[in-house]
Amino acid sequence: MPGFSTLLPRPVSVTEVPGSCAWPAPVTVRAAPGLPAEGYRLAITPHGVTLSAADPAGEYYGRQTLRQLAGPDAFRAASIHSGLRLPCGIVEDHPRLGWRGCLLDVARHFRTKAEVLRFVDLLAAHKLNVLNLHLTDDQGWRIEVPRFPRLTSVGGWRRSSMVGRHDGPERDGRPHGGFYTTADLREIVAYAAERAITVVPEIDLPGHSRAAIAAYPELGPDPAADWQVWTSWGVSTSLLEPSESTVDFFRTVFDHLLDIFPSPVIGLGGDEVPGATEAHGRFVRTIADHLIARGRTPLGWDEVLDTGALPPMVIGAWRDSAYGARAAELGHDVVLCPEDRLYLDHRQSDHPDEPIPVGYLHTLEDVYGYEPDLAGPRLRGIQAQLWSEHLDSARRVDYAAFPRLCAFAEVAWSEGPRDFAEFLPRLREHHLPRLDALGVEYRPLAGPHPWQTRPGVPGRLR
Ligand code: ACM
Repeated sequence: MPGFSTLLPRPVSVTEVPGSCAWPAPVTVRAAPGLPAEGYRLAITPHGVTLSAADPAGEYYGRQTLRQLAGPDAFRAASIHSGLRLPCGIVEDHPRLGWRGCLLDVARHFRTKAEVLRFVDLLAAHKLNVLNLHLTDDQGWRIEVPRFPRLTSVGGWRRSSMVGRHDGPERDGRPHGGFYTTADLREIVAYAAERAITVVPEIDLPGHSRAAIAAYPELGPDPAADWQVWTSWGVSTSLLEPSESTVDFFRTVFDHLLDIFPSPVIGLGGDEVPGATEAHGRFVRTIADHLIARGRTPLGWDEVLDTGALPPMVIGAWRDSAYGARAAELGHDVVLCPEDRLYLDHRQSDHPDEPIPVGYLHTLEDVYGYEPDLAGPRLRGIQAQLWSEHLDSARRVDYAAFPRLCAFAEVAWSEGPRDFAEFLPRLREHHLPRLDALGVEYRPLAGPHPWQTRPGVPGRLR
């Protein structure tokens, strides 16, 4: 029977009592409004469990903790073992940060609806509570917008893709695409909500927009040009043309987005806009104002701080923590997602077999050692990022995300101090078996399985 010391993320406090309880156990749920938000208290006796929770999220997390205590087999899709037991005792727990996010880029490589739902389950098992869904980029547009069908009929697929990080003309010649219908997205939102997860959608503008421009060339800088959904990775210099008609177009797109996603926070991008003019900045601010007028808070990447005076927003500080501090000083809320610490598409070792190694080296220990360097009421939380240029399947997403996302989840949920020497055996002996039972193809601690390598496909290190 796994003990309380196996839990991940580590709870705030545990009192062990001799004895055990058969699992599945009767669970009596009590409302406990005095507990912290998302908090719960479990009292496990030989006769059953009392789960007190501040709110539905707290109740959900209490049940996740029980599942971990019941052992890895409790993570299988069907019950194939009898005799599972829970240890008796009391767990009192709540998260330290209110935004425990993960960005999933479904624009560069589409993830099917079923794959997104599975990913939601994996986030929920780690008590993460925000799925930041990156729906549009130069290489693909993934959300159906009924008024503008070419966004998905044209923008929803590309002919070919750059092979690894090879900047030459080489392409794989393989069409790639897909998009979500309105009903698909409503289903994802509802499924996530049942698991205490808010889906924060992002439509990225005025850069990262070549799929939209390919669909409607009048949105771009040269309507007469032969625009294609981009087959390269990198930062495109082709921006949306910030004309009144483009602004109107995107007001309509965002209104559709708001109709689907109840999230109080809505992403509008704003990152990596080489050659942006004053008018591009006004475009971003106009869309931000539009979201605010409809009762939402815009989320922009930290480059938006350079566009001039902004209404209060949430800033995703990704380039450098100094941008987080600057955003907070300017009165914005902040989500820290530093590229040099929390980009999980970046390589996880210097092992020569690491598949398509890109970016900074972020080992499991590095991620576990991350500590937000901003405090105070402006810090909403932290977010790990899974950009998908080189994650072309759900299996590759598993490999990049896990087990580093387990370490991230503990940083987001549990107060320090943290000791990697304590975490590592807990992960290896108790949590990886849970992932095995769930069917997660994580990166083995010793390095990739042979079939997880990508010999001959170039990466690019930083
Ligand atoms: C980003 O990585 N461009 C937010």
